[in-house]
Amino acid sequence: MFFWPLSSICFLAVLCGLATAANVDFTQYVNVFQGTTGGGNRFPGVVAAPFAMVKLGPDVQSGKTDAYSGYLPSGNIWGFSMMHESGTGGAPKYGVVSQMPVLGNVSNPLGDLSQGRATADQAQIGYYKSSLANGIVVELAATEHAGVYQYTFPESTTPSIVVDVSHVLPSFRGLGWEQHYSGGNFSFFPDGHYEGSGTYNNGWNLSPDWIIYFCGKFDKKVATARSFKGVGTTLASFDTTPSVSGSERVGGVFTFAGTTVTSRVGISFLSSSKACRNLDDEIQGDTSLQSLTEKARDIWNAEVLSKVQVSGASDADLQLLYSSLLGMFLIPSNRTGENPGWSSDEPYYDDIFTLWDTHRCHTALFHIIQPNAYEEFIRSLIGIWRNDGFMPDARSSNYNGRVQGGSNADNVLADAYIKGVRGAINWEDGFAAIQTDAEEVPPNNNDPKAPDSSTKEGRGALPDWLTYGYITPTYTRAVSRAIEYSANDFGLYQVAQGLGKTDEAETYLSRSRNWYNHWDSNASSNGHSGFVAPRRSDGTFISQDPLSCGGCYWGDAYYEDNPWVYSLNAIHDVAYIKELSGGDDMFVDRLNKLWDLNIFNAGNEPSFTSPYLYNFVKGQQWRSVERSRAIGKLYNGGTGGLPGNSDAGAMESNILWQMIGLWPMTGQTTFLILSPWFPELSINLGTGKQLKVTSTGGNKDTAFFVQSLKVNGEQWDKAWVTWDDVFANGGTMEFILGQEKVDWATGVLPPSPASGHILGGMSAGIRSGKDNN
Ligand SMILES: *[C@@H]1O[C@H](CO)[C@@H](O)[C@H](O)[C@H]1NC(C)=O
Ligand SMILES: *[C@@H]1O[C@H](CO)[C@@H](O)[C@H](O)[C@H]1NC(C)=O
Ligand SMILES: *[C@@H]1O[C@H](CO)[C@@H](O)[C@H](O)[C@H]1NC(C)=O
Ligand SMILES: *[C@@H]1O[C@H](CO)[C@@H](O)[C@H](O)[C@H]1NC(C)=O
Repeated sequence: MFFWPLSSICFLAVLCGLATAANVDFTQYVNVFQGTTGGGNRFPGVVAAPFAMVKLGPDVQSGKTDAYSGYLPSGNIWGFSMMHESGTGGAPKYGVVSQMPVLGNVSNPLGDLSQGRATADQAQIGYYKSSLANGIVVELAATEHAGVYQYTFPESTTPSIVVDVSHVLPSFRGLGWEQHYSGGNFSFFPDGHYEGSGTYNNGWNLSPDWIIYFCGKFDKKVATARSFKGVGTTLASFDTTPSVSGSERVGGVFTFAGTTVTSRVGISFLSSSKACRNLDDEIQGDTSLQSLTEKARDIWNAEVLSKVQVSGASDADLQLLYSSLLGMFLIPSNRTGENPGWSSDEPYYDDIFTLWDTHRCHTALFHIIQPNAYEEFIRSLIGIWRNDGFMPDARSSNYNGRVQGGSNADNVLADAYIKGVRGAINWEDGFAAIQTDAEEVPPNNNDPKAPDSSTKEGRGALPDWLTYGYITPTYTRAVSRAIEYSANDFGLYQVAQGLGKTDEAETYLSRSRNWYNHWDSNASSNGHSGFVAPRRSDGTFISQDPLSCGGCYWGDAYYEDNPWVYSLNAIHDVAYIKELSGGDDMFVDRLNKLWDLNIFNAGNEPSFTSPYLYNFVKGQQWRSVERSRAIGKLYNGGTGGLPGNSDAGAMESNILWQMIGLWPMTGQTTFLILSPWFPELSINLGTGKQLKVTSTGGNKDTAFFVQSLKVNGEQWDKAWVTWDDVFANGGTMEFILGQEKVDWATGVLPPSPASGHILGGMSAGIRSGKDNN
């Protein structure tokens, strides 16, 4: 029953009896508009391959609403541009290298050329279509470094295409994170093609000027070509001058005869001739839109979607599964060979937005689903350290920033290291990179939102961390940063231990326990005492209501979540948190209160792991399952289907773990066991290995508690498995589900690797720092 041979399984109800999995087009289940409304900020445009540098889609204006990914469901389209970031908050980034089709002669290309839509935009993987109110239809397709715009104009008009180099997504939030255009070049040539570059700066990561180069070609003879220059909406010139440049708005207008025009555009960070080469390498003049769309579908099927296959799922769940898989891999952007100013053959990934969001559960799944890209990603983080001095916590436009909490690349590298990711990674350099975070104070970038220390990279509050073993109010976000620095140092311990660096291992294990120095045993709230709290340099605590995080933002003691949540976030030391909370019953009640008091926020990353910490108490695993199912109800495959910002796919990876029935404890080899959604789910782990998770007896919605479990054929009594158990060489997990809340996990509790002194493995003395107990 549990061991159906793969070939005889009907993976997809709808396709039963049809084809082998290799031929299944999983893109039919993908809604590219998932998470595009309700704050999800997903990018629905064309991303031709996972991590493609080009993300081609519409830019929409609607009052003073920020269009984070360019797209908004309603409002006017004011251009179609080549670069976007998917699912971010903060402020829009990119929306550069655009074209805008216009009906008839254009009298002022600096004026408002925007158009409403005649119908809602339509899209699928590799294809996007907008029908504008004026009758122009725009269809888009792309490759990794180039894109195609196919225009159909109404009869008897003058088709015009405007290239506005100053086009960049605005922000109306007034937080100082809006992008600026700072100048550009534009030239058109006798053969009808154009080249140029635009320079932009700022955005959420406060980047200085960066340049993107472009090269555009048309399939039709250009009837008239003009360039323009001006400030605001006032033209300084608009004529047949073939080349314009400067800090003013610059660009060109092309007109054509007939009703169809196709334009191909390539981009590059290196030069406009490289942009032309990228274009000609990837999209030849006779390449059809349809062939590019098919190629994109094939790549997404092969590299991502086919990696997870299920049987017995509803259509709605298939849509959620495959749309979420797409959403996980839209960013970062693979910019290997496109890093200006570097002489390095190492892989290069940008648009990391942010590791603060993704390190909790996205990177662990990225590793499993795309192991080759993941190895490149880790090499790229180390490469950024080699070239820029620090790894990023967030990065875009080739510039690190911003850091919200700790230096979470440390956790990501540690997670990869302990799970055996090796390949071409230089782990000595990897350790040096994470040790830089742990020992070197990054220069202050004087961020107006947090002037105390660097928000660009590294650990700005490191001086206090090293001096006191905690972070005083000298620094903003002191408490939440301290909790994250502890987890970061635990990451260093993991890698140091693996590399045989015994002294360093001991140092960082000890430092990983310093979260405890923020534990104010007098702080109380709703029947519980003991919460992390702000602490002065003299050792005294500042009293703070554990239900409040103050402003919860850049200048406050806690970032984006409150003391209840952060008190549970040293996930490498859960046994000790449990003890400080008053033991098993109090710990369970504390976890319950996160829901009873409405503290838990499924859309906010610091809350991500807390629903499953019940697995650290015997007999309580069913409560984690109950939470998991409740969280699952907050998601769907529709436009409003994400319970918060996609956050670079963090939100999507979260729901995928619920479906699998596991939760990764990042930085450790532990996976907490939840309850799988489907009768069968298999993950292709590469090189012939797979994890197969089956469930019988119950179902996803009404009978989902674990009754019993076999792992690799053996009866299992632990609420956790390790990487080696089921991922390193593949494995099976056979669940029997039902309605009863069964106490099946009677075995050893999940590890609390930093809690040695409690578990008897280590002396209490190593828990250093200035705790005043
Ligand atoms: C188009 O606009 C340009 C610039 O305003 C003008 O010189 C030209 O005569 C116009 N052509 C038509 C057909 O209206
Ligand atoms: C024009 O391009 C060159 C490099 O191609 C660049 O150095 C210059 O800054 C650009 N000018 C503007 C105004 O962006
Ligand atoms: C990343 O880009 C480089 C250069 O285009 C390419 O060689 C490499 O295969 C890409 N990586 C992945 C995982 O696609
Ligand atoms: C808790 O409060 C008591 C009484 O006010 C005080 O003596 C003690 O130092 C406080 N403990 C901490 C950890 O602040």
